[in-house]
Amino acid sequence: MRVLGIETSCDETGVAIYDTERGLLADALYSQVAMHAEYGGVVPELASRDHTRRLLPLIQQVLEEAGMQRSELDAIAYTAGPGLVGALMVGASTAHGMARALGIPVLGVHHMEGHLLAPMLEESPPAFPFVALLVSGGHTQLVEVHGLGLYRLLGESVDDAAGEAFDKTAKMLGLSYPGGPQVARLAETGNPGRFRFPRPMTDRPGLDFSFSGLKTHTLTTLRQLEQAGELDDQARADVARAFEEAVVDTLTIKCRRALDDTGLKRLVMAGGVSANQRLRERLATEVAKRNAQVFYPRGRFCTDNGAMIALAGALRLQAGERDETGQMKAVPRWPMDTLTSPASA
Ligand code: KG4
Ligand code: ZN
Repeated sequence: MRVLGIETSCDETGVAIYDTERGLLADALYSQVAMHAEYGGVVPELASRDHTRRLLPLIQQVLEEAGMQRSELDAIAYTAGPGLVGALMVGASTAHGMARALGIPVLGVHHMEGHLLAPMLEESPPAFPFVALLVSGGHTQLVEVHGLGLYRLLGESVDDAAGEAFDKTAKMLGLSYPGGPQVARLAETGNPGRFRFPRPMTDRPGLDFSFSGLKTHTLTTLRQLEQAGELDDQARADVARAFEEAVVDTLTIKCRRALDDTGLKRLVMAGGVSANQRLRERLATEVAKRNAQVFYPRGRFCTDNGAMIALAGALRLQAGERDETGQMKAVPRWPMDTLTSPASA
């Protein structure tokens, strides 16, 4: 089964073709980052318009890359949420229009399920069950995964997502959007011992996260440095390093706890922040100590992309799931633990 995947939930237009027999056939991405950078964050209206402009040429591009005609597609999967409603509607309406014209099934996919399954695009995919750490710009969640659609939420952020905290910290440090990779780059030259930031919610039981206090701590530290006339490039790098260490440490402590609580031996990390090198290294070390394994997608598939949506859609369609309503779906808020397995749908 060859499935076209369409991702337009935020600021990347992602399109891919996944074949359930041969794997990923083609994958293309257009990032709107440069356009939004001017405004310091995503402007929803501009995002929708740009998806409209980029989507059809990208679909043509992946078809050419895969050496296929539209008529050879067996189904279409698109991100139905969560995300920006206008942006989602561009993908949803294009998917529905094309599927109707071609007379093939179309399925709305959950964006975070796409992230969660993205490590399965790699050569040694994780087997079920596993614990998943989902860390993106909008979500920070620990999920116990027993199969496709069989998700138990173990914990999540009660305020900012980890990626959001990176982005806000970047702004405070005068770095441009999206901040995660830039904070990470600046942190490389930072001295790890100069500041110690709090590790929020690690001193009490449970698997929830909170990152907004860390953001305030960063702001206070920067203000103090400024007042003392000490806010130079090195100080900025030291703050970036302390912030990154605190986030990485907090996520690592909770992952360790989730593995212990569930007794599972596989940890999957996905979402934009899982591209963070320091986080990958720390988790690999911790997980090895527990005789467990860690899985993550290649950098390109950590952030938003069409391949993960094509894959998630293909797995559900292959298991027999169909959307019989014929209505396009765009759900800005959609808790992942309301998903069900295709077998029980
Ligand atoms: O998954 P994603 O592309 O979009 C959402 O679904 O939100 O994640 C984007 C987030 C942004 O907040 C970005 O700053 C963060 O992932 N990010 C990183 C890194 N690369 C991307 N955060 C820390 N370190 C990175 N290397
Ligand atoms: Zn995402």
